[in-house]
Amino acid sequence: MADEPLVLGIETSCDETGVGIVRGETLLVDAVASSVEEHARFGGVVPEIASRAHLEAMVPMIERACHGAGVALRDLDAIAVTSGPGLAGALLVGVASAKSLAVALSTPIYGVNHLAAHVAVDIVEHGPLPEPAVALLVSGGHSSLLLVPDVTHDVRALGSTMDDAAGEAFDKVARVLGLPFPGGPHVDRAARQGDRIAIDFPRALSTGRDLQRHRFDFSFSGLKTAVARWVEAKQRAGEPVPVADVAASFQEAVVDVLTRKALLACREHDVDHLLIGGGVAANSRLRALAQQRCDTAGVTLRVPRPGLCTDNGAMVAALGAQLLARGHGPSDLDLPTDSSMPVELVQA
Ligand code: KG4
Ligand code: ZN
Repeated sequence: MADEPLVLGIETSCDETGVGIVRGETLLVDAVASSVEEHARFGGVVPEIASRAHLEAMVPMIERACHGAGVALRDLDAIAVTSGPGLAGALLVGVASAKSLAVALSTPIYGVNHLAAHVAVDIVEHGPLPEPAVALLVSGGHSSLLLVPDVTHDVRALGSTMDDAAGEAFDKVARVLGLPFPGGPHVDRAARQGDRIAIDFPRALSTGRDLQRHRFDFSFSGLKTAVARWVEAKQRAGEPVPVADVAASFQEAVVDVLTRKALLACREHDVDHLLIGGGVAANSRLRALAQQRCDTAGVTLRVPRPGLCTDNGAMVAALGAQLLARGHGPSDLDLPTDSSMPVELVQA
């Protein structure tokens, strides 16, 4: 509806330059440029390369978004931008761009938390978010379990990874298996031909005292090492590495722990909606197992389409529009970037 706020969102926390435009709870456009290919030969995101790529992509993405939505910059009611967490230099490009627009257009600016934005994006995909919800956010940079009583001002961390992010584990295991970066989609594909119970890889923090102490935390670095050792032993013995079985068994270990803890969080917090976001949400086995376990538990699963799970500008615009709709005032024009912005802080 034309009287709902028109919000442009800018996301530059990692290697995607995202510019999205949302009107109220309707997504108008989502323009994303990724520098992922420039990082591939390094096997991981190189912050300085990401920052430079954001600088080059920012104006073209803003133009593409406005053109795609059929709106002019002067029509905007607010600019929203990721102020953290993320790579410091990359965040600076987005926040400086948003401030420039806000000053030039005399438009309010909302600095927002990247993780809350991953949750809010599902509103433009599946409609109003039943709150409280539990959110499992799994990507190359973060793995968090959140309790979300109100996505605009009450987001609580239940747990997170103690070491590697889930996507990082996929990327590292892919490397061990000789698959390209980013490895998640390749491991996912290889795993389809494999046996997920072929190798019994460890599920960290899942039993006994570990589970008590780290109820909703994750740890993937031991798993990654276990996979590497297993593959090395095969190679030393001169035997072929069963790539599909290793991929399937590793993937099962990751998604088993993720879904088990997510549903435990739903049960213990009496929540009947689970949302999954982040790049790893594209994983076919994660989706299938989550759906199966949600069905058993009577929990409704919400997963945005893959393009809205990975980093994008629409999610930032979606959260900005919620902040406006629920009466939150804008951020100060001197809002900072915060590379380790706490998840509880929804707005800077
Ligand atoms: O959200 P995202 O695009 O960027 C950030 O890291 O913030 O997530 C990228 C991560 C990478 O680690 C990639 O390997 C992983 O998501 N990923 C997957 C799949 N597709 C992407 N992991 C497992 N299975 C997939 N199908
Ligand atoms: Zn993300």
